[in-house]
Amino acid sequence: MSGAWADTAYLIAGVCFILALKGLSAPRTARLGTLVGASGAALAVIVALTTPHLKHLGLIFGAIVVGVAIGLPTARQVRMTAMPQLVALFNGVGGGAAALVAAVEFLRPGTAISHAATADLAAIGFTILVGGVSFSGSLITFAKLQELMTTRPVVLPAGRWLTIGTASAGVLFGALLVPWPSTALLALLAVVSLVFGVLFVLPVGGADVPIVISLLNAFTGLTVAASGYVLGNTLLVIAGTLVGASGTLLTRMMAAAMGRPLTGTLFGAFTATAGGAIGDGGGAAKPVRTSSPEDVAILLGYARKVVFVPGYGLAVAQAQHTVREVADLLTARGVLVAYGIHPVAGRMPGHMNVLLAEANVPYESLLELDAANSELASADVAVVIGANDVVNPAARQPTGSPISGMPILDVDLARQVVFCKRSMRPGFAGVENELLYATNTSLLFGDAKESMAKVLAALKAQ
Ligand code: TAP
Repeated sequence: MSGAWADTAYLIAGVCFILALKGLSAPRTARLGTLVGASGAALAVIVALTTPHLKHLGLIFGAIVVGVAIGLPTARQVRMTAMPQLVALFNGVGGGAAALVAAVEFLRPGTAISHAATADLAAIGFTILVGGVSFSGSLITFAKLQELMTTRPVVLPAGRWLTIGTASAGVLFGALLVPWPSTALLALLAVVSLVFGVLFVLPVGGADVPIVISLLNAFTGLTVAASGYVLGNTLLVIAGTLVGASGTLLTRMMAAAMGRPLTGTLFGAFTATAGGAIGDGGGAAKPVRTSSPEDVAILLGYARKVVFVPGYGLAVAQAQHTVREVADLLTARGVLVAYGIHPVAGRMPGHMNVLLAEANVPYESLLELDAANSELASADVAVVIGANDVVNPAARQPTGSPISGMPILDVDLARQVVFCKRSMRPGFAGVENELLYATNTSLLFGDAKESMAKVLAALKAQ
């Protein structure tokens, strides 16, 4: 396909991407949105593959086969709890690919080095700088989330100055590429941007990693848009700009949900004075109150209002269906039931909403932070199922804790709190939770799904 036909098809694909974003903004239309977006992408690939006089078909199809062979089984098999790592990896590869495209354009014989226009050279420099940061930074976020390395902030000696130095060097080399294009400068720019990507992400603590993934996603979008400019491909410019804009909005929303400015998320570790109450739960033996499933069933049976607070552990245990059955039984007995959903509960935006929707929990029962907190203040029982950081009162400390400033679900306001978890280990941010030791807290130890099944059986036996 060429000329006007190709441009029209690209326009249709661009519209599909915009409609996909619209569809993805609501749970009911999300599936359709995904399909529309995928159709737009498929159309764009067909247009690209039918470009007249396309060369290197063997290489192109070889690359497609390798990509599909790796990507398809990985995406199918990944557990939902590991989705952010996969997104980080795919995003990084996207940024790296855009940077390579720009490098190839630069090095193509007879084109860029001596003849390219200033704007093209500027776009090439930008693509390599930001794409390199996105690639190496995403690999570090992957390693953090996959727990291949520590999830705590890593601050190198003189880390702040190294970061400032590499960032400045990257901008300088990118700018110098315009008046003095050379392969050596291009290589230097690539190396510096890769190093900066690593230094940029290392100081970010585990609980903030999703925000950085989203930011790097926005970077990749901008890189793709710039590479679209270099290649003269309108659709890449549109798609990249959409990813850049939506990634930026998501980053801002997540930073707001964590209750701190983005700069605090990215550079907070350089100024932090204390690490907060980090513990592995194996330390000081403070007394805790444990409960049996039968005790919990009695507590729930006498309650008038119960708020369930799901977290990452519910996703790991796949306890959503059993929790819904418990909630249905309580509702049938006249108990008021709601679910308190924290914006960063689980490991990705909307994680809890997706899981609970899958278990046919009515969407109206899912309360966002403020609404849930007003219900919690008058609840008889808050049942925390595999959540920790999002209910940890340590977040109320103005400074000094890795989760300081994050708005939390105020489960401690409920008359009784039940924590359903397997051990005394802390949550993702590694911060000990004092609420586990409170006198109105009881701990139901065990896998969330098994524990909830036992509570369900005990409720049915009442
Ligand atoms: P966490 O603070 O990570 O707590 C999860 C809890 O689940 C832990 O206390 C763990 O305790 C328990 N658990 C794990 N497996 C379990 C199982 N099979 N059965 C029962 N309990 C189990 O989770 P959260 O409260 O949902 O907070 C989310 C955290 O992840 C935040 O720090 C957030 O910033 C971060 N994060 C969020 C996102 C997004 S966008 N949602 C993305 C990445 C990271 P035991 O080990 O004792 O069982």
